[in-house]
Amino acid sequence: MSGYPEYMQESLKKVADSRAARFGKDFIPMTPEQRQEILEKFHPDWKPAGKRTLAIGPSKGMIIPHEVADILEAHPIVKSKEIDLSKVDYDVDVLIIGAGGAGMSAGLLAHENGIPADRILMVQKLRLGDANSKMAQGGIQAADKLDDDPLKHYLDIIGGGHYANKPELVEAMVKDAPDVIKWHEELGVMYDKLADGTMMEIAGGGTSRRRMHSCKDYTGLELTRVVLDEFINKGIGYVEFTCAVDLLMDDKDQVAGAVLYDLDSNEYKIAKAKSTILATGGFGRLHIQGFATTNHYGATGDGIVMAYRTGAILRDLDSTQYHPTGAAYPEQIVGQLATEKLRGRGAQPVNKDGELFVYHLEPRDIESSSYIRECYERNNGITTPTGMRAVWLDTPQIEAVNGVGTIEREFAAMFRTFNKFGVDIRKEPMAVFPTLHYQNGGVEINAKTETNIPGLFCAGEVCGGVHGKNRLMGNSQLDIYVFGRRAGKYAAERAKTATTGKLTLAHLDRYDRWLDEAGIKTDRKAPLLLPEYRGQKTLEHKLKLL
Ligand code: FUM
Repeated sequence: MSGYPEYMQESLKKVADSRAARFGKDFIPMTPEQRQEILEKFHPDWKPAGKRTLAIGPSKGMIIPHEVADILEAHPIVKSKEIDLSKVDYDVDVLIIGAGGAGMSAGLLAHENGIPADRILMVQKLRLGDANSKMAQGGIQAADKLDDDPLKHYLDIIGGGHYANKPELVEAMVKDAPDVIKWHEELGVMYDKLADGTMMEIAGGGTSRRRMHSCKDYTGLELTRVVLDEFINKGIGYVEFTCAVDLLMDDKDQVAGAVLYDLDSNEYKIAKAKSTILATGGFGRLHIQGFATTNHYGATGDGIVMAYRTGAILRDLDSTQYHPTGAAYPEQIVGQLATEKLRGRGAQPVNKDGELFVYHLEPRDIESSSYIRECYERNNGITTPTGMRAVWLDTPQIEAVNGVGTIEREFAAMFRTFNKFGVDIRKEPMAVFPTLHYQNGGVEINAKTETNIPGLFCAGEVCGGVHGKNRLMGNSQLDIYVFGRRAGKYAAERAKTATTGKLTLAHLDRYDRWLDEAGIKTDRKAPLLLPEYRGQKTLEHKLKLL
């Protein structure tokens, strides 16, 4: 019994009939010239109409997606005169905004580096651990095998990022990587192992060695489980359902905490801090160019907005990552991630006639562009019942290559998800299309995670420079723990000697002036905190109930 509608059966038969002939076959990777050509013609980043020039602030002139410019060219939620800075609700050494992998590991390392648990505060707009970190599937890269080394990892990252990466950040990441894996294991993470007890490591797009460590296809969930446990066990301070709406500064031009909004009491609160770490993640829920997304509900780009208002420099926000294999069917899970690990274990991307059309492990931007070309230029895709175009990801090939039982064992979550909708991915392929996955750019940092604004540290997806113009698989789980840990350490170091001056929100008035001077007339306010369509959905729901 097929999980797909009748009209797709002819194409599905061609995919099944061609499977044996495709076994062990593949396209060769594209040349640099072919890659450049396909990017320019098909990658959404290369569509000039999708972008505009940022009109204000220290990174004025940067060309970025309209959706990102909209949140940067928006007024603060609060006016400086409305907030009473004389009443401080939280006075801490280290304030962490965001509670994914970067935030939690920053808290742990700040504590390990001498800051008492009650002098650290982590604020989270949803619940602890509600972040993209937890949703990561495929794995985390680290060069820790005999045939590999951090230099090879470095070269892969720089090549994948189109040589736009900040070298000191890449160096920091690849050198720290093996220690991060050891740290996870010491805390209790159960990475997949081979029968001899060594790590099972697989290939990812654009990687020259097998260095992807994973926990089946729910790596992020397992890592979050363990790191969050440790965070709670240490008794480090945190509050949930509390959003940061802007950063606080002092009269010495340092960042000195944040203005918070408590979603339970609907009150603004003041958190004063000697060091502030932004670990707010990315902007996937902005749905750049209308793409579906793999991202969690809170991924609304708040960190870049708050940092920019203090004068922090941004970079590489012209580039957005579209993961090649977002679910295109069934409708309930459109955009949801179908991990790259599926291709790493042998699933082949094929068109409506069951033909291979691209090397299965190109870097993500190239792989995505080729799927778009197959659907929109060559017209070789399939069309889902809701009119979405897609290609097939032939998952049954995984069992042909690795043996029966591999899918249930290694892709337990994916198997269950698709099964709920009647699609057995051991027997039938998935319909997939690129989905918005990652904010490649963000706030500029150095290897100590410092920004150009004293007192402000950033870690994780909110930052730019680590991945250049295109991140490779498994390097975001690595990034959050490498730079989260570094942020905790260096923020703690600073907090031991820093003093905070008189608190001020004058930078918000300055921001309003910048908007005025640039002639930007808008009612838009940012950060968004939650996706813009939330009101609409609630309203639709209410109207249906009436
Ligand atoms: O395909 C994946 O599992 C995604 C991994 C990543 O973005 O690093």
